[in-house]
Amino acid sequence: MTKTIYVLNGPNLNLLGQRQPLIYGAETLDDVRTLCEAACGEGFEVRFEQSNHEGALVDLIHEAREKAAGIVINPAAYSHTSVAILDALMAFDGPVIEVHISQVHKREPFRHHSYVSSRADGIVMGFGTQGYVAAVRHICAVIDAQG
Ligand code: DQA
Repeated sequence: MTKTIYVLNGPNLNLLGQRQPLIYGAETLDDVRTLCEAACGEGFEVRFEQSNHEGALVDLIHEAREKAAGIVINPAAYSHTSVAILDALMAFDGPVIEVHISQVHKREPFRHHSYVSSRADGIVMGFGTQGYVAAVRHICAVIDAQG
């Protein structure tokens, strides 16, 4: 049976490619979706979503409890503010990888803390959009290893 990896993206990532390209690069979120789909191993598929709304992301994480083998999440600005997203992820049993396109520790101090990090099994940051590729591949490998 095909296993689904949820790739969830938080606020303003719909503007990827247009928004602060010196920090986030020129690729669009559709390009990231293509990268994630290509990174998926055999027997896996990606459900790729973006929302500017905290509650919508919480709802997607709840849905993942039933439907996803693992979650890759770039919570964007909600990383630094959202206990609700952390709590939702705490209720998810599978692997969770947190992704940031930029290296947030080189940036403003308010970006240095992520609520999500205390739940994440791995964190990729500063690798640009390739961070998503590493995260999807890692989740496939972890789940494959579980048999
Ligand atoms: C981000 C970093 C966050 O601090 C920021 O709010 C974002 C994107 C990243 O991918 O580098 O929107 O998560």
